[in-house]
Amino acid sequence: MGLNASFPSSLPAAPLVVPPFMVHVRDIVASTNDDAKALANAGSPHGSVVWAREQSAGRGRYTRQWLSPPGNLYTSAVLRPDVPPARTAELGFVAALAVAETVETFLPVGTPARLKWPNDVLVKGQKISGILLEGQFNGMDIAWVIAGIGINVTGAPDNPAYPATSLASHGADVTAREVLVKLLERLGAWLEVWQNNGFAPVRAAWMARAVKLNDVVTVRIGTEPLSGPFRGIDHDGALLLETPQGTRRITAGEVAFGPG
Ligand code: BTN
Repeated sequence: MGLNASFPSSLPAAPLVVPPFMVHVRDIVASTNDDAKALANAGSPHGSVVWAREQSAGRGRYTRQWLSPPGNLYTSAVLRPDVPPARTAELGFVAALAVAETVETFLPVGTPARLKWPNDVLVKGQKISGILLEGQFNGMDIAWVIAGIGINVTGAPDNPAYPATSLASHGADVTAREVLVKLLERLGAWLEVWQNNGFAPVRAAWMARAVKLNDVVTVRIGTEPLSGPFRGIDHDGALLLETPQGTRRITAGEVAFGPG
């Protein structure tokens, strides 16, 4: 009798755990951010994660659509950091570093992942990942933050206005699940750095990967375009833009390369 004969032929799938993360696996959802919010509102702990094979209403920043066919990674983590609400945006930089390190492990050696303010990850100038942070606050405390992360694994949308790429188009033969496991490992590591040492090491690592540092960029804040050399990020993640009137700190906006 074979060694495996006493085991049932189909074992239930083992839960996916990458401490401190526990992954809830879904087939198709509207948006993993919505499912993660529902978990958070029902009291799920820090590290609860939703991963879906497909999204029917994936969202990007500024209520843009995030096309979400099967093959790419769509995941959202419930985070409950013990810091004041004003530090929420720092988590976007923590997540971007985790994504950059993740995609680099699957890219050809010497192909870097670079970062565009606030939270985009680019490969050879094209977007490979986007991050959507959503939070709920109780007075002076963070109740939860959802870090929603999309990574283009097998394909990227074809939109000339927003050039995008995927791991597969750089020759990586990898599944969304493999990318998720690496992502959670790097996210756990960067969260620990941030919790133990604050934003300074995150800022330094982010700046080392920043695109267009010291080059002229244009930031759109609402409808107002503002151009000048990009001088990096401040101690809290605000974009620093040099203007004839002095250095402007920008906390929200859309960056375009060049004078606009
Ligand atoms: C952006 O670059 O505009 C952010 C895109 C964020 C997409 C991810 S995919 C997983 C999670 N669920 C969503 O609906 N959005 C985020």
